[in-house]
Amino acid sequence: MLVEGPVRIVAEDGSETVSDRFMVAVCRCRRSAVYPLCDTSHRRAGPARRE
Ligand code: FES
Repeated sequence: MLVEGPVRIVAEDGSETVSDRFMVAVCRCRRSAVYPLCDTSHRRAGPARRE
C-alpha cells in the first residue's frame, strides 16, 4: 500500500517506524523483513492469497 510521506507508524506494542520519504510502501502481506514497511517480499511465490 502506497501512502504519502512522511509517515510515523505506531504498532500495537508501541514501537514506531518513521519514514520521511515522499511516498512510502507499507506492507500488507506481513512477509517483509522490514515490516511494517514493504521490501517487495510480496512478489515471491507463495500460497495463493487475495490482496
Ligand atoms: S506488501 Fe508485504 S512485502 Fe510488500
